[in-house]
Amino acid sequence: MAESVTLFEMGPRDGLQNEAKTIPTKYKVQLVDMLSEAGFSKIETASFVSPKWVPQMADGADVLAGVTRRKGVRYTALTPNMKGYQRARAANVDEIAIFGSASEGFSKSNLNMSKADALEMFRPVAEAAKADGILMRGYVSCVAVCPFDGPTPSSDVADAVEAMLALGCYEISLGDTVGRGTPEMTEEFLTACLKVADADQLAGHYHDTNGRALENIEVSLTHGLRCFDAAVGGLGGCPYAPGAAGNVATEAVADLLAAKGFETGLDREKLLEAASFAKTLRSV
Ligand code: HMG
Ligand code: MG
Repeated sequence: MAESVTLFEMGPRDGLQNEAKTIPTKYKVQLVDMLSEAGFSKIETASFVSPKWVPQMADGADVLAGVTRRKGVRYTALTPNMKGYQRARAANVDEIAIFGSASEGFSKSNLNMSKADALEMFRPVAEAAKADGILMRGYVSCVAVCPFDGPTPSSDVADAVEAMLALGCYEISLGDTVGRGTPEMTEEFLTACLKVADADQLAGHYHDTNGRALENIEVSLTHGLRCFDAAVGGLGGCPYAPGAAGNVATEAVADLLAAKGFETGLDREKLLEAASFAKTLRSV
């Protein structure tokens, strides 16, 4: 039997959060439903961050209320603080994610606080999720390069991974937020992270600004990673990371994995339909 790799679909959240025009909720719901039909088991559907910071994600509860819940699919959301956690719980999310940074510059830009203060903000969220039996994932951003601080030392990445695991995350997604990581850098930060985490506790989240995300995924596969984040149509970026282009396109990752003999459980035709639809949302 072919070995399987999980593709964690980011389109509705990381894909759309950076769009300047307000995308009507009904189109977001339609995209999520197309993705669940295409066979994704994990879809990052919403973001319960401050709507003052990311207005595009303000309708998260309505998106979650509107989607047709498909059995076996986890509909997930970002929750930086208790306010976000409570909104996410009220919207009946299946899984939450906290998101920290390996670099100080991005932490200040994205969360308006230091790395240490961010960990303190996450702590009650982690405790509440544990008490409520809600799965919690963690992101560590800027694992290769920070748009403010430059190249990130791999020891800082490993320290951030260790801290997020200690909070109770079942998996840490390693974010090349600005998509400037090279295969050499990927090799370096993975080697450091694998000293503090097992390969099945790590996922790759590579933006594709310089067109190297697929190579970085290949390096990650050789290190045993079997979960990758991607967004249909290659949409996305982070409003607080200048120069960040879209996530690596899910359809490109799916093709790479198929060529390498991995199973993703995705229906290629439906995936391509979702990707075409996602691209049209840019101009809605
Ligand atoms: P702040 O302004 O320092 O803190 O923001 P605040 O507590 O003063 O909050 C400001 C206002 O927002 C207040 O309202 C709060 O009540 C409200 P006011 O009193 O002025 O009326 N507020 C909220 N409202 C709803 N839900 C909430 C919430 N929190 C506060 N959860 C804060 C600090 C952390 C809130 C802010 O910086 C924030 O929301 N940051 C998130 C930025 C973001 O979403 N970035 C994109 C996602 S991360 C990413 O894309 C990277 C990733 O893809 C991985 C990678 O690529 O590397 C994950
Ligand atoms: Mg991202």
